Amino acid sequence: PETAIRRDRFSGGPARGFLSSLAADAAIFEADLAVDRAHVVMLAEQGIIEEDVAGEILAALADVEAAGHDALPDGEDVHEAIETAVIERVGPDGGRMHTARSRNDEVAACIRYRLREDVLAAIEATIALRESLSAVAAEHVETLMPGYTHLQPAQPTTVGHYLASYEGAIARDTGRLFDAYDRINRSPLGAAAFAGTPFEIDRDRTAELLGFDGTVRNSMDASSARDFLAETANAFATLATTLSGLAEDLILFANKGYLDLSDDYASTSSIMPQKKNPDTLELTRGVAGDAIGEATGTLSLLKGLPRAYNRDLQRAHAGVFEIADDVTEATGIAAGALATATWNVEALATAAGEGFSTATGVADLLAMAGLPFRTAHEIVAAAAPTIEDGMEPAAAAAIIDEAAREVLDEPLASYVDPADVEAALDPAASVAERDSAGGPAPVAVEAALSD
Ligand code: ARG
Repeated sequence: PETAIRRDRFSGGPARGFLSSLAADAAIFEADLAVDRAHVVMLAEQGIIEEDVAGEILAALADVEAAGHDALPDGEDVHEAIETAVIERVGPDGGRMHTARSRNDEVAACIRYRLREDVLAAIEATIALRESLSAVAAEHVETLMPGYTHLQPAQPTTVGHYLASYEGAIARDTGRLFDAYDRINRSPLGAAAFAGTPFEIDRDRTAELLGFDGTVRNSMDASSARDFLAETANAFATLATTLSGLAEDLILFANKGYLDLSDDYASTSSIMPQKKNPDTLELTRGVAGDAIGEATGTLSLLKGLPRAYNRDLQRAHAGVFEIADDVTEATGIAAGALATATWNVEALATAAGEGFSTATGVADLLAMAGLPFRTAHEIVAAAAPTIEDGMEPAAAAAIIDEAAREVLDEPLASYVDPADVEAALDPAASVAERDSAGGPAPVAVEAALSD
């Protein structure tokens, strides 16, 4: 029976290797065994195959599992190879396993079964990263740092506020993975090639045995649909894009001396003995490129495919499994690098005030004193070029006063107490003032973190 099966279905010839997905199918070996078991149990329960035949097939599957993927006989794919291995053990009755199904619904079930594990692992990693971001943020609600726009010093903020911003982004990325999970976790089994089957199967039973939340009902949809792969790849690409931004920031902060990575997450140079490089974060940043490529590649492969099954689909999932692993690993690396890094509080505090970063706070103060915001902006903008890093607050306030006299024809003191202007030039005061919901003030960040 063994050679008859192989000769009939997989002729070989020069295209043999090109046709075969057996090696890549190692990723769905366990899934296929689970799918086979559920199908065989359902067939027996429905009286479609004899119970003792089902028992023999299940015993053979256990044996095939113990031998492992590498021990499978040759075949076009893992589904065929496992069936051949079952028939080798059971005899021709082993071929009853493939009653009322096709490799088309079988492979779709295997991909979903495997991918949902990957997505759950990713969700665990994103939750751990969120915990790490929140924990470090909570320690640093008072730690000043420069905030940037256009990578130029913009306004002072805190490390806590900065990290909480990424916690929010990763929370949405986690939500996208949950959404993808919902649509992955439906059983296509029972669709057969695409046109269903005349056997009295119970699709809901195989779905239940495999832990799916119901079925993809339309049989043509069930065997052809791979939009869940595109959705999942995009969810991973979006998460990886968030991680790449976080990694880029941390690389820059390390470069400026604001942050020390722990040695566990740094690397050195084979030639320059003094170097401590942020390689783990660079690789994290790099993973986004692969993930985006995979998301694009998946859509490109699916675009324009006619209904129902086409062999192109064999190339659609392996890359998604790969980026799922890579992005999940990068998520863990980001969490570890963050949890073990040291923030250089003093360097950050100095930098937080550089580049006249409190200018907006001074303009806000003048606007609160009754000047139109645009006029306040004009006064502070006129003063800005002359205000230098490290200048005494009184000196800076005098420059602002001079600018006000030019713009308003009267001293600033007619609007606001000069002491208040000096206070507004202090980065910590500027941050503390910004207590609007979700803002950087320590009270606001504490409130956000305990939400
Ligand atoms: N290995 C194939 C896949 O991954 C399943 C085989 C279905 N083959 C077929 N000729 N219909 O899509």
